[in-house]
Amino acid sequence: MTEDKDTRVRPVLRQELLPPHGAGRRHLISIAALEREDVVRLLGLARTFAGTLERDVKKLPTLRGRTVVNAFFESSTRTSSSFELAAKRLSADVMSIKASGSAVDKGESLKDTALTLGAYDPDVIVVRHPQIGAPAFVAAHTGAHVVNAGDGKHQHPTQALLDLYTLEEELGEIEGLHVAIVGDVLHSRVARSNIQALLLMGARVTLVGPPALIPRGIEALGCDISYDIGSIQPADVVYVLRMQRERMLEGANFVPSLREYTARWGVTHARLRAGQKVMHPGPINRGVEIDAAVADAAESLIEQQVRSGLVVRMAVLYDLLTRGPATADIAMLKEVA
Ligand code: CP
Repeated sequence: MTEDKDTRVRPVLRQELLPPHGAGRRHLISIAALEREDVVRLLGLARTFAGTLERDVKKLPTLRGRTVVNAFFESSTRTSSSFELAAKRLSADVMSIKASGSAVDKGESLKDTALTLGAYDPDVIVVRHPQIGAPAFVAAHTGAHVVNAGDGKHQHPTQALLDLYTLEEELGEIEGLHVAIVGDVLHSRVARSNIQALLLMGARVTLVGPPALIPRGIEALGCDISYDIGSIQPADVVYVLRMQRERMLEGANFVPSLREYTARWGVTHARLRAGQKVMHPGPINRGVEIDAAVADAAESLIEQQVRSGLVVRMAVLYDLLTRGPATADIAMLKEVA
């Protein structure tokens, strides 16, 4: 299947527009479907879970008897490991499927894989797929709640939520923060989810990068754009994106060379202002989009982002499988903690 031409997948994209708390199953497909109060509730739940992880015994009985399937059709370290650990910390049964070594290798379609996984009656299916719309497609063909763990260059909503959580923990209020997102915005699902999430929470966003890697018209979302790397200087936070060589079509010259990209756009200490926080979703290309010294510096929040991933994904799984207002959720959590 090619990324944009598959007619079996594209029509169900409309499903992401359904309100997350509407009738029927709830999914987390896109940040665009969340209200500010949803984000506040999820970050509050994540904080509560962070408190429970400070105890010697870190496991909670909250999702005992529930089943979470992690179906990763594209490589992942952070997202797959944190969803697996999050489900285990909540006592759910966890099944992890990767494209390599599964029947996908034998040509099984996404629909047949979804129907097969759905036959086990899982409560949640976490889907990463190179194709835009794949998680919504799985939601349409199974009875499970579906979480989008990254679909092509479309969305990565739990990455945006964990980034918001990291910002709140490190800097307090997100409202009024100025975040510069630097690099390959064109191929980045992280950028799309983060722009929506940051704007929803009242931050200001400036996209910085070469013209070929900033999508035309993206400022309609409410962000600023700049082709000058110097524009990262006034920002409170510099969010560096990976150069996604695997998504760049062969033969298309988005940048003359990686060496030139690094020379003109690489984030180095010389280009940062003292005290600016630096984030990156990972995996990082040291010495390409980010200098190794910047990645390892005290101002780098990269490790905190990974740590946030666990509690935020616990919150997302818990929230999808429970009902009621946030205060009731937190009270219930305190009871079981
Ligand atoms: N940030 C992120 O999605 O990392 P992985 O590809 O390792 O999951």
